[in-house]
Amino acid sequence: MSAKQISVLLISPDEQIYSAIEGSLAGQANCRFTGRQDTVTGVNGAAVALTARHDVVLFDVDDQSDDLMQTARTICDARMPNAIIIALASEDLPLEKARQLRKLGVDDVLPRTAINEEIVPQLDEIRARRQAQLPALWGGQATQGKVIAVAKSRGGVGSSIVAANMANELQSKEGFFKKKATNEVALVDLDFQFGSLAALMDVEESDAMWRMAMEESIPDTAFLEQAMVKSPCGVDVLSAPSRYGPLSAVKEEQIAAILDCLKRSHDYVIVDLPRALVEWITPVLGQADLLYLVTDVAVPSVRSARKLMDFYQAENPALEIQLVANLEKKPIIPAAHHRAAAKLLERDFAFWVPKDERTVREAVDRGVPLQDVSNRAPMTRAIRKLAQQTTVSLPPRVGHH
Ligand SMILES: Nc1ncnc2c1ncn2[C@@H]1O[C@H](COP(=O)(O)OP(=O)(O)OP(=O)(O)O)[C@@H](O)[C@H]1O
Ligand SMILES: [Mg+2]
Repeated sequence: MSAKQISVLLISPDEQIYSAIEGSLAGQANCRFTGRQDTVTGVNGAAVALTARHDVVLFDVDDQSDDLMQTARTICDARMPNAIIIALASEDLPLEKARQLRKLGVDDVLPRTAINEEIVPQLDEIRARRQAQLPALWGGQATQGKVIAVAKSRGGVGSSIVAANMANELQSKEGFFKKKATNEVALVDLDFQFGSLAALMDVEESDAMWRMAMEESIPDTAFLEQAMVKSPCGVDVLSAPSRYGPLSAVKEEQIAAILDCLKRSHDYVIVDLPRALVEWITPVLGQADLLYLVTDVAVPSVRSARKLMDFYQAENPALEIQLVANLEKKPIIPAAHHRAAAKLLERDFAFWVPKDERTVREAVDRGVPLQDVSNRAPMTRAIRKLAQQTTVSLPPRVGHH
């Protein structure tokens, strides 16, 4: 993980706590919120990996559960040095149990019902104290942009459309005609053989990546300036080569160098991953601050999503993976197959992007973002929401705007 300022993790199935904390942190610069609306047991092995990279961890404890202490121990053992751990419990939690939790290393136990009286103000205070203590360190790290990888569970599931449109929305354009980009965004097509981003973003294909692969050169800023093309919507695109080259021609050091350079010049670096599990995706998985895995909820896609998640997580246990369900409206009441998918994946879908053939077709045909076809189409709005939440959990660089 790079460019971290203060990161807060909440694991709680309680909708009210979840939205209160998410809401209170939403407007805070330099604060990154990650939430799992679930129990610690529910998020399973992910709790440890998540805890290990957050400065403040709030987690819900079930007082009735026999595993209460074991759960708390798991969280406390996984903490980063100096991380603050807060347990949220019922008001009736016996004193003895609260004491035991403290002994295990929990810094505080707060009553779950006192959301606005205790939980939010406490968190606010910790955040303010932490940010005041470490300005130099945080300032330094926040000068680098965030890397967001986008992967897919099957071919054609929509990952490139999601990546391209998320990149456009991440620019957070402002001004009267929404023309002025607040954030610099780069979009890198690592689908080396079948990349489609040049067409989606309406830029000329380039042979730069092919030459880089064939000449075995390590890309630098000068290479990227020449290889990248600004799309009409403002995103800087490094497109896949227009001619075929073997996947094995690309080297890990080349991809690492591309990301290192782009993080210095852009607030967000979006990487469209190939489906092939080639060695040179390792630096992407290592440097990514977040990976969105795009899938549909059909059984074969979900199975393959599960396998991919395990693979990615094995490559980088600290990598945060969020699932995006494409071609599907968020169900008001999850159907059996939604529940089965969430169970197999051991987590819920973070975002839902509805099927919207008309808007997509026009956007693809014209090579424009969905936003230009319809600002209010359900799909445009779904991807905008995804981008907005991304800017909250992964803020742009400081001092560049
Ligand atoms: N939400 C959606 N609604 C309607 N059609 C969609 C949606 N998402 C994707 N599509 C369709 O799926 C096609 C493939 O999308 P896209 O190229 O983004 O997929 P991909 O996962 O990147 O595929 P590839 O494996 O080729 O890289 C699009 O051209 C579009 O027709
Ligand atoms: Mg694609």
